[in-house]
Amino acid sequence: MGAMTAEVLVPEAVVPGGEIVCRDLVRIFATDGVEVQALQGLTLTVDPGEIVAVVGASGSGKSTLLTILSGLDTPTGGSCVVAGTDLLTMSARQRVAYQRGTVGFVWQQTSRNLLPYLSAAENVRVPLELSGSLPARQRAARAAVLLELLEVGHVADRRPSQMSGGEQQRVAVAVAVANSPRVLLADEPTGELDEATSVEVLEALRGVNRETGVTTLIVTHDPAVSEHVARTIQIRDGRTSTEVLRRTEVDEHGAERHVAEEFAVLDRVGRLQLPSDFVTSLGLKDRVRLALETDHVGVWPDARRTDGARETEEGER
Ligand SMILES: Nc1ncnc2c1ncn2[C@@H]1O[C@H](COP(=O)(O)OP(=O)(O)O)[C@@H](O)[C@H]1O
Ligand SMILES: [Mg+2]
Repeated sequence: MGAMTAEVLVPEAVVPGGEIVCRDLVRIFATDGVEVQALQGLTLTVDPGEIVAVVGASGSGKSTLLTILSGLDTPTGGSCVVAGTDLLTMSARQRVAYQRGTVGFVWQQTSRNLLPYLSAAENVRVPLELSGSLPARQRAARAAVLLELLEVGHVADRRPSQMSGGEQQRVAVAVAVANSPRVLLADEPTGELDEATSVEVLEALRGVNRETGVTTLIVTHDPAVSEHVARTIQIRDGRTSTEVLRRTEVDEHGAERHVAEEFAVLDRVGRLQLPSDFVTSLGLKDRVRLALETDHVGVWPDARRTDGARETEEGER
């Protein structure tokens, strides 16, 4: 990593459109004199209305990213603009408005999402009451519509302890989108659920994204989540490494085919991470030779090593 993580100073580029735009985001935790770089220059753009999964191993910085995007934590450096709000410079007042109205979140622990002594319908009414965005008499109707949208109308009068884990998470999504936020964030929303229930919750998130157009970002260590979204961003060691785009193609016989294409992420200053299987299979190490071709860039192992190999081959002949 050494040379690749070196700070490179580049003038601030103009931030183009995007509902979530993070550039070179850095978050350093310093505890007892030990410094942990949870995010080391993460760059990510999510378009308005898009649904995206951010996938990465445990400790790769996913929760750190989500805590920043939800306005609960402030990055150490870089830039991050969500729905027009600059998360590095917002005032305390803007932060409250941002958390209440701009973003909605769903956490992994079902117990963190819902108040245990309230019914599903009452839980959905809480954010409506806090924001005062709707007249009192319309709140119950709005809660009912949202519970129906998430296919949990049947648990409206039940408390969380009387619902399954999947029902609780779907009610949690209803709570998160009650005030029509522009961005919906979910941190491992299926982490405590079995596989079949996870699929239900992911489909519920996708349904809400489709019906309301809320920009949705789901963070998970579960690679299977990728199958439910069109774009997956892989994060490794606190930075984005690859992206997988999925689409459905219809062939000449009318049969549907799912196509997944993997891309490496090129950051603003031209850095990219080679997939580890490419690196090991060619024995790439320390430095590589690059060549610009007409329509691609070639990467070769260190020239001296290649020459060495050739000399041995010739010697053997
Ligand atoms: N509040 C904190 N103080 C110190 N280190 C932290 C804190 N939060 C996260 N970290 C560290 O930052 C790294 C990324 O953590 P996290 O974002 O929780 O990863 P993930 O959600 O992908 O498992 C880990 O090494 C973790 O130990
Ligand atoms: Mg986490």
